[in-house]
Amino acid sequence: MYSPESIQKLVKSKLRGYKFFIVSNREPYIHMHTPEGIKCKTPTGGLTAALDPLMQACKGTWIAGGSGDADRENVDEHDKTLVPPDDPKYVLRRVWMSKDEVDKYYFGFSNQVLWPLCHNVFHKPTFDKSFWDGYKHSNKLFARAVLDEVKGEKAFVWFHDYHLALTPRMVRSKAKGQIVSAHFWHIPWPSWDVFMTCPWAKEILEGLLANDLIGFHLKRYCINFMASVERALGASVDYKSFAIQYGGRTILVRPFPISIDFDAIEKSAKKPIIKRKIKEIRSPHYIPYEFIGVGVDRLDYTKGIIERFHAIDRFLEKYPKYQNNFVYIEAGAPSRRKVPAYMKLGEDITKLVEGINWKYQRGYWKPIIYIEGKLEYNKLLALYRTADVCIVSPLQDGMNLVAKEFVAANVDRNGVLILSQFAGATEELKDAVVVNPYDVEGFADAIKNALEMRGEEKRKRMERLRGVVRENNVYKWLGDFVSEAAKLI
Ligand code: G6P
Repeated sequence: MYSPESIQKLVKSKLRGYKFFIVSNREPYIHMHTPEGIKCKTPTGGLTAALDPLMQACKGTWIAGGSGDADRENVDEHDKTLVPPDDPKYVLRRVWMSKDEVDKYYFGFSNQVLWPLCHNVFHKPTFDKSFWDGYKHSNKLFARAVLDEVKGEKAFVWFHDYHLALTPRMVRSKAKGQIVSAHFWHIPWPSWDVFMTCPWAKEILEGLLANDLIGFHLKRYCINFMASVERALGASVDYKSFAIQYGGRTILVRPFPISIDFDAIEKSAKKPIIKRKIKEIRSPHYIPYEFIGVGVDRLDYTKGIIERFHAIDRFLEKYPKYQNNFVYIEAGAPSRRKVPAYMKLGEDITKLVEGINWKYQRGYWKPIIYIEGKLEYNKLLALYRTADVCIVSPLQDGMNLVAKEFVAANVDRNGVLILSQFAGATEELKDAVVVNPYDVEGFADAIKNALEMRGEEKRKRMERLRGVVRENNVYKWLGDFVSEAAKLI
């Protein structure tokens, strides 16, 4: 089993003599002005949470876009700062972009073209040429920062996600020293015919093929990617060994399902304060009803929040004995607010919640408590421990770490996980109750079945789920990836 220490050893021994870099759009620490002075926050999203422990253990340099309004005041003359701020372990180098650059590269091409294209949830990408030009330009800014840091020496560069598909090629074409590069794509890869609707599909694929290793969460995303390069670029693909030959080079493609730090979450969930929080939640002043459901999402149309609320509505209509008896708490963290689809989603959710609550409200009881924001961590853990059901129902999701976090925090083994068949996590979490989020009737019935599941059955399922996540934790993901990358050196 991998641990932070063993991964540190692995990186030290296998990547000996190589500088170690992570490159991503989102930075792991964001400096913000607040009424109490400058505060350093961590962002919402699986990517940074998964990689921060690796960097803390391995001490490399993380190159990422500066996004906080106090970021510029917290770097040295080389745009660097040491993080975590309370206990510095590694270097964060920030890449600066103007408002216009961020609008085109991040809000535009990344989140209005690649995000809907790869998630394929009936949401048409906006194939706008100015987004594409802005994306190329900002990918160049990242490439410049990488080349500046590598300084012609031997380096292992690990790129992340759909924001930086072109950067690997820009780096490889200019690098003087020996660069080994890998890319992990944190979102799904769609079937080749969907991907090729993008007018710039070839350039994106060529950008990625400048890497030596490309990772996805699942085998089927790897296969979709290989089919895309075969069709679009005429690359030679070996579907047995998951290897691509292109431009005289070999590129390996591998599945690595990302995960969480199971032990850390379990340990925190067992702290005495969590029991106290559970008492508060279940108190007569807060939720004195028998059943509690919980959901935690970034506010994103791929997460299926609207569909979930429709299913809850149908569940209460079809099984009225749960009225005045079941409360669903949804914490939705605002995200990508400048993208029109996200703005609309926020408004649609608020309206829908109001409508459902209005329809059923009785005295103090209302069925949905909607919290727009991040929950305080101990409260979140208490909810995960006391909830009868956690509903994770994306329309499409590369993995989904909330599902795994719930399992790790459900230390009393009395909760049920309802999981969409379209979450990558469903491949591992076989003991969840699986739903099709588009099937309102089936989804409503699944909620009822989850609430009525016998204690013994719940315990067995949760025990098995916990075994899977404990074993396949984030350190395994990191260790497997780094070991595979190290073979290329
Ligand atoms: C997904 C992506 C990440 C991203 C995260 C949060 O998990 O794969 O790359 O960081 O969402 O989204 P944001 O746009 O806030 O970075």
